[in-house]
Amino acid sequence: MSETGSLLSALVCRSCATEVDAARPAGTCPNCGGALFAVYRLDRLDAGTWRRSLRDRPTTLWRYRELLPVQRTEDMVTLGEGLSPLLALGPIPEAPGLEVSVKDDGGMPTGSFKARGMAVAVSRAREIGLRDLFVPSAGNAGVALAAYAARAGLRARVYLPERTPAPQRNACAAYGAEVRAVPGNIREASEVARAVEKDRGSFDMSTLREPYRVEGKKTMGLEIFEQTAEHEGLPDAILYPTGGGTGLVGMAHAFSELDHLGLLERTPRLYAVQPAGCAPLARALEAGAARITPWADPRTIAPGLLVPSPFASEPVLAAVRSTRGAAVTVTDREILVAMHLLASRHGISASPEGAAPFAALPKLLARGDLKAGERVLLYNTGTGLTFSREDLERTLGLEPPLR
Ligand SMILES: Cc1ncc(COP(=O)(O)O)c(C=O)c1O
Ligand SMILES: [Zn+2]
Repeated sequence: MSETGSLLSALVCRSCATEVDAARPAGTCPNCGGALFAVYRLDRLDAGTWRRSLRDRPTTLWRYRELLPVQRTEDMVTLGEGLSPLLALGPIPEAPGLEVSVKDDGGMPTGSFKARGMAVAVSRAREIGLRDLFVPSAGNAGVALAAYAARAGLRARVYLPERTPAPQRNACAAYGAEVRAVPGNIREASEVARAVEKDRGSFDMSTLREPYRVEGKKTMGLEIFEQTAEHEGLPDAILYPTGGGTGLVGMAHAFSELDHLGLLERTPRLYAVQPAGCAPLARALEAGAARITPWADPRTIAPGLLVPSPFASEPVLAAVRSTRGAAVTVTDREILVAMHLLASRHGISASPEGAAPFAALPKLLARGDLKAGERVLLYNTGTGLTFSREDLERTLGLEPPLR
């Protein structure tokens, strides 16, 4: 048995400061029901040595093993996830004066950034003795759970909204997960999943109801740091397509740990990009509210952004506010145009979610949130190769959009 060197010390609730033993399975805070977050003994890490040692490590997210929860190397379940490319776009006519790059997770195993969270969470689940996992999902998280559970030899059940795109639904089944289609959106899928699974002794892998997926998503921020630190430094702003918002929490978490380690020169401003037809986090940020209120009648062509009532919105709002970022909304039509431009002009295939940040560029520039000369990173969270433009146009024009 060999050790990863993980510095995980405990799980802590940010709402009520309750501390929980990380060696045992834990979902949410036993005291207040809030999200639990991993904390690490960062004082035991020599930051300079660690930074230098990264050069010789595997080109996967496991290169950051000290800052991940898995304790034994044989428990790391991997499909080669992480270290996705950072691609410069060159001049953008729609957003003149900005220096824009795309962090492209379209090539991750299972086609989206969800591989990051599930690789870490499934590894940790197996390590602490869990065998039977389930998740309600808009599609991509379900595919990632199915694949990593297969790789780990664990059982997986996936609850999908019935209008989940066929490629995602088929992939869950192909990886051997049990699939159940639920009428409604992710909120209804979650309710059905929890009701069905209640007495089964199975474990809920929903984001932020389980503490380790966000740790995997943290590697988005660690990679952005590592990929820019030796060149121009961290970008001024990161635009992220936001559904539940865990990715924002993960990146903020990364920057805060790097800051504790004395490695961070500045923190990029985090911008939450949401579809105009489902924007509960953007609404709460604009109103200065403490938490979200559920979005009535949610609609968008971006399945992963159809999250009308994100769980644990406080840490998501805090991630944006603490970095002096903001929110912005884009329409489905703007998302379609952005998908087209990214693919046909820049050679980057983005899903509707992943294209949303590109659509947000001119708006943030016009609003003065972004200024000429700034360096801006767009996060492409998933491949567009599983989407057909004709289907999306039909959904937009002739049929009611996803709801
Ligand atoms: C491709 C894609 N992008 C973005 C998101 C939203 O992620 P988050 O929960 O971090 O806001 C999802 C969630 O399903 C997704 O599948
Ligand atoms: Zn609590």
